[in-house]
Amino acid sequence: MDLYEAMRCAPTSRDFKADPVPREALVRALDAARFAPSGGNRQGWRVVVVEDLQRRIALRELYLPRWRAYTEQTGAARMLADPESFDERRVRMVRRADVYASRLEQVPMHLVVGVRLEDLAVTDAELDRQSIVGGASVYPFVQNLLLALRAEGLGAAMTTLLVPAEAEVKALLEIPDEIALAAHIGVGYRAGDWPKKLARKPVEEFAFSERFGEPLA
Ligand SMILES: Cc1cc2nc3c(=O)[nH]c(=O)nc-3n(C[C@H](O)[C@H](O)[C@H](O)COP(=O)(O)O)c2cc1C
Repeated sequence: MDLYEAMRCAPTSRDFKADPVPREALVRALDAARFAPSGGNRQGWRVVVVEDLQRRIALRELYLPRWRAYTEQTGAARMLADPESFDERRVRMVRRADVYASRLEQVPMHLVVGVRLEDLAVTDAELDRQSIVGGASVYPFVQNLLLALRAEGLGAAMTTLLVPAEAEVKALLEIPDEIALAAHIGVGYRAGDWPKKLARKPVEEFAFSERFGEPLA
């Protein structure tokens, strides 16, 4: 699959066939994803692959209450309760995410991605605002992995709602203290068609020339 095509059509897949993910496909995807950049090339990412049903159920039990709380906080719960009053497209997305959360254990393969904290170069740690740079040494790997899974014909959903349940997830998967959770990726063969192109803002809305706000001619 052409790289640009993969970038334009690797959606968040939340509905999967029951077929297991071939181990060779996963290993090929991981083998490509590892070429991601990281601060100082420290490559601090670590991945736990979960297929055991009891563990998948345990992950759902940790994810679902956090998803429900998130829908309350963001107003998504109102969309679910009163869909007619909201944009149809957003309601569809929230519905899909809600079903995904309630059946998380049915996702054939779960990838729990963590990162070794001591491998992070957090260059904005001293700024008087929320730090963002630490994630830059793990999320390029995550995005590479999503694209590689797409190239393997596999669907994937990256979420971060398990991160606040880090202590429980780490206990469940015996992840050592030095690792922080970064993401959960549900993987499987997508049920239904692939979109041709995802809904995203055009370039002129986010890229500028020389000074912020100047159009990129
Ligand atoms: C940091 C991050 C957190 C996300 N969290 C969730 C989540 O909690 N639940 C969910 O269903 N999708 C989650 N997503 C997926 C987004 O909803 C998805 O990327 C976005 O709606 C675009 O969807 P599309 O790629 O299918 O167009 C998350 C994505 C990112 C990058």
